[in-house]
Amino acid sequence: MIGPELKFKGQVVIVTGSSSGIGKACAIHFANQGAKVVVNYSSNAEAGKDTVDEIVKRGGEAILVKADVSREDDVLAMFRETINKFGRLDVLISNAGLQKDAPFLEMTLQEWQKVIDVNLTGMFLCCRAAARQFLAQEKAAEGTSHSELSIGKIVMMSSVHDIIPWAGHVNYAASKGGIMMFMKSISQELAPHKIRVNSVSPGAIKTPINKEVWSDPAKYDELMNLIPYKRIGTPQDVAKAVAWLASDDSDYVNGETLYIDGGMTLYPEFSDNG
Ligand code: BGC
Repeated sequence: MIGPELKFKGQVVIVTGSSSGIGKACAIHFANQGAKVVVNYSSNAEAGKDTVDEIVKRGGEAILVKADVSREDDVLAMFRETINKFGRLDVLISNAGLQKDAPFLEMTLQEWQKVIDVNLTGMFLCCRAAARQFLAQEKAAEGTSHSELSIGKIVMMSSVHDIIPWAGHVNYAASKGGIMMFMKSISQELAPHKIRVNSVSPGAIKTPINKEVWSDPAKYDELMNLIPYKRIGTPQDVAKAVAWLASDDSDYVNGETLYIDGGMTLYPEFSDNG
């Protein structure tokens, strides 16, 4: 039969930081493909509820869970709530992240620490909880599944700034560079358990995090000098790639970073120079 394929039918997906931006687009995209989605937010309950409402409006299933991913108790409670409600977990999209920009010489310890806590320690806490859950499920189902496919998938939200240095944003760039090695190392460690771990690295995507740049025509034009494809990305551009990495279509992909950046990492300054 030809028709829309519900790639995640019956699967349970947690998307951290899904009250806005890329996380919100991922939550909606997974729900559209049949997943039961855990929408997570840390402070803006209203925005989190909007994501859930949009999913329910389209006939999907979602719950809203408040958790600060940098707090161990919050993360454990979020996973408990997921299992209580949906009974299992199939996919973690570890997306929550933030920027607190400042010139290096003026950056406070608090600005440094907050970004590392949410963007990097948050990954550690959520990925560890997800991997433990995947293994617990596998153990409980011992002998009943004969699938060769992955038993659980993790996709982390990194950034082009995991390889592009970024003056004025050293806390953010350091957190994303850290994600790269964290992702590869746990992928190596978890692959024998049939857990797949990958990341995506978006470039400039039209979300609240960089509104200051895309909402100002002069800054937008300047941004285009950095993007060979000559357009800003959309949250949906990223959600589609995330879904592929979380699906069985990418079952033999482990420890990879997929750049979704309109060519931002192609050193565009060199196109007529150097
Ligand atoms: C940042 C954005 C920025 C983009 C490209 C992202 O990781 O969050 O603020 O526009 O990288 O520089």
